[in-house]
Amino acid sequence: MDKEALKRRAAARALEEVRDGMRLGLGTGSTAKHFVELLGERVRDGLDVIGVPTSEVTRADAERCGIKLTTLDEIDRLDLTVDGADEVDPQLNLIKGGGGALLREKIVAGASDRMVVIADDTKWVPTLGRFPLPVEVIPFGLAATRRALMLAFEQAGTGGELSLRRTKDGHAFVTDGGHWIIDAHLNRIPDAPHLAGLLSAIPGVVEHGLFIGMARLVVLAGAEGIRTVEPA
Ligand code: A5P
Repeated sequence: MDKEALKRRAAARALEEVRDGMRLGLGTGSTAKHFVELLGERVRDGLDVIGVPTSEVTRADAERCGIKLTTLDEIDRLDLTVDGADEVDPQLNLIKGGGGALLREKIVAGASDRMVVIADDTKWVPTLGRFPLPVEVIPFGLAATRRALMLAFEQAGTGGELSLRRTKDGHAFVTDGGHWIIDAHLNRIPDAPHLAGLLSAIPGVVEHGLFIGMARLVVLAGAEGIRTVEPA
């Protein structure tokens, strides 16, 4: 089965967590897009839900699918967020932000009673870090922020090359919030919660792609079928 089919299967399993009347966080990325499309089908069949999108791309997808949308200024809590991930470890810590939406994704997941992560099983890793860690930064003082990042990585027992994310035409990639992204090629993050704390303390860092202790259920789709994992 190809990867897209696996992602859609994971999305279909997450749909089983959705109940009528729920307020939903809608994730970003190719797997979350499957969820939005499947949710749209259920909405057309009469399911009554309202969503908060985690990016402008997801907003457009959800609108196209006929899903009612709101904001976190209009409602105070969400029942459930369904989102993808770039990596998931056995503690259900995540790397997210490959699509550049990590800031809104973390705000939305943090405002949710429950976060369900959907992925094909290639995202499951023993230790986070093979996927470059996205760090959303303020353009001002970029060199100083890079130096602080290098120091934080060293303190956390890791390190590697930092690259400013660029678009195909060579310009700096700009997030929905107007910031830039540094991708940290670390290979291995020995203690993700420790590193997360160090990164959050750097003034030029708006947010980082480590989602620690946020996922309540991970749905992994593989050739053998669906596997669900909950925190120990
Ligand atoms: C978006 O910023 C990311 O956090 C995505 O959730 C993550 O990159 C997973 O994307 P895919 O489902 O496309 O692999």
